[in-house]
Amino acid sequence: MKLFKATFLFILILLSTIVAQLKVTEKNESKIEELISKMTLEEKVGQMTQLTLGTFIEKRDSESDELILNLKKLREAILDYHIGSILNTGGAANSITKWHEIISTISDISVKETRLRIPVLYGIDAIHGTNYTIGATLFPHSITLAASRNRELARKVAEITAYETKASGIPWNFNPVLGLGRQPLWSRFFETYGESVYLVSEMGREHILGHQENSISSDANVLACMKHYMGYSIPLNGQDRTPAWIPERQLREMFLPPFTKAVDSGVLTVMINSAEINGIPVHSDYHILTEILKEELGFKGFVVSDWEDIKRLYDRDKVAETPEEAVRMAVMAGVDMSMVPHDFTFYNHLVKLVKEGKVPMARIDDAVTRILRAKYAAGLFDNAYPIKSLVEKFGSKDFAKVNLQSAEESIILLKNKNKILPISKNKKVMVTGPTANKLSVLNGGWSFTWQGNNESLYPKEKLTILEAVEEKVGTENVKYIEGITFEENINRDKALAESENVDVIFLCLGEPTYCETPGNIDNLELPEIQLNYAKKLAATGKPVILILAEGRPRVFHKISEEMEGIILAMLPGLEGGPAIANIIFGDTNPSGKLPFTYPNSVNKFTTYDYKPIEKFDVNSPSWEYPFGYGLGYTTFEYSNLELSNKELRKNDKLTIKVTIKNTGSIIGKESAELYISDKIGSVSRPVKELKGFEKVQLKPGESKVVTFKISANDLSFIGRDNRRIIESGNFEVTISKLHNSFKIL
Ligand code: BGC
Repeated sequence: MKLFKATFLFILILLSTIVAQLKVTEKNESKIEELISKMTLEEKVGQMTQLTLGTFIEKRDSESDELILNLKKLREAILDYHIGSILNTGGAANSITKWHEIISTISDISVKETRLRIPVLYGIDAIHGTNYTIGATLFPHSITLAASRNRELARKVAEITAYETKASGIPWNFNPVLGLGRQPLWSRFFETYGESVYLVSEMGREHILGHQENSISSDANVLACMKHYMGYSIPLNGQDRTPAWIPERQLREMFLPPFTKAVDSGVLTVMINSAEINGIPVHSDYHILTEILKEELGFKGFVVSDWEDIKRLYDRDKVAETPEEAVRMAVMAGVDMSMVPHDFTFYNHLVKLVKEGKVPMARIDDAVTRILRAKYAAGLFDNAYPIKSLVEKFGSKDFAKVNLQSAEESIILLKNKNKILPISKNKKVMVTGPTANKLSVLNGGWSFTWQGNNESLYPKEKLTILEAVEEKVGTENVKYIEGITFEENINRDKALAESENVDVIFLCLGEPTYCETPGNIDNLELPEIQLNYAKKLAATGKPVILILAEGRPRVFHKISEEMEGIILAMLPGLEGGPAIANIIFGDTNPSGKLPFTYPNSVNKFTTYDYKPIEKFDVNSPSWEYPFGYGLGYTTFEYSNLELSNKELRKNDKLTIKVTIKNTGSIIGKESAELYISDKIGSVSRPVKELKGFEKVQLKPGESKVVTFKISANDLSFIGRDNRRIIESGNFEVTISKLHNSFKIL
């Protein structure tokens, strides 16, 4: 009996520690097959149709301003057109109760009134937290979080995002963005995890696992959607939704691996690049969508188009002669669901195309199988309704704590001349500039509204940079003069005159909020008005600390010398204000490291993994700050870079160890970054590539050994024939300033 009890207890403990996963199962596969055998063509095509919530809005309530659904239209879409998915907000963030009402209304129709009881899958852009639900925890954007180099933290952020999204009743998040941030002009740069293939792949993986294997509660699992597959992030002219030219070798070397890792991590949905690669709109590219994604990578989930992008094959790209031909092209290329998103044109065209034999039923069945697979995995067939108990932790203090930590670990200290920072709390300070007293600029696009610029929607209790500084040193010690807006002078001279009376100036510059095409710019340099203001403030002789809130690296070379300190906050989210203040006044020791190379000129973009030819003869790469750069208030010493082996066979693993010691006087966190250089290759190899990072916390005087494991396969690359190969030869390992080497046999 005792033994039985013990075993029972053991099993119970085991069960409670296994995190339920959202995944494909054999049992569901047979249910899907059976369901498909019962479906009419119209029901199948309906599953492939996704409309925006805006289509079903009657009006907004004159008092509460909450949206009111048009039930007639909604019932028509679900019952007559059998639509399988709905997305978006209907204008702006909704309250959690409004979300519950919306999702429950949709589910009442789909699971109670349709012939086959197939639930509608609702999708949302929860890009940095559940940014379309009022009261949610809005985290740093991906470009900022990538600077933390903290996988565990990135996982927690993803889990909380999934939790709050599911608590809102929504089971599908259109994130992570797995494009590489290598084109700093691009208005969606901030949605990426930066320029390194490895860093993007690792952070993307944490995001997906945090969503699909949520350890907070298995009820909080949410489908992730890797996007935008692929090559969207590198428009040649820097403008959003414009052509990219990516040779197959580079496509496979750099742009595909984050998606490969995501597929291996179990992601079940993918959204497609809205633009074109090598002259082929990706929504019509069979090679990329079917041959590479579905056949080569073995992706079992479904492909959703981006907004209106099937129509665009006809009316923008002009690769299809008619709207109907556009539908045929996209579906035959491998698109499974169309984000139409306003009408039934896709549905009508596709039904007709199948009836005329222009799209085979087998393709439709494949698409619907994939969609139903994701719906089953998301648990929608068991429960398509909001889970009320999840509301309990929504927007909780515990989540805000994680948010603060993620902002603190992601903000990067770029310059600290004569150790001016941290500033002592008994100084008189001036806070000035267009990003000093707004929450929107710390959160960027995808915050309560698409463009994130409605300041009135931000929670009143959250602190701007100014308010957080005031809280630290008392309002009596803070002089706030805005000085300039993003466009014009307001009271610049007053600020210059008042600088007499303070010890230090916190100059908050950067960008207003934006996202997607409205965020296009012609010039990467910080606008003239901001640079001039910085120069004038510096000329007062008072030390100026520059704080940058921006979504992409705006060039500030003309003022960098004159700034005594530079803090790069990027888009740190709702706890950005307190996190910046904690760093300024030394309550937090900064540990963020650049996830991209900060350019020093608008015409010279270099990435850390440049090629030898870029540093040959008179060519020389340069930057304002290199990838991986970031200061703190303590010092770390690296020693004993050891390899388990000097020779590595092609199926072997290598263990690399290094010791890090905190040689300063305060506790700090440090990310050890492992770089590998392939000395000779059959195609030109980058000077170095990031192949590992590991963050540790060390007390003063404390040392830790950090261990990396890499396999020969991690050092493979795409050869002259566009196939992945592992080549024999010499490799150099670099961690901090230490080097070692090994050979692949
Ligand atoms: C964006 C996607 C987004 C979709 C739905 C598109 O404009 O490109 O990233 O998921 O809208 O909101």
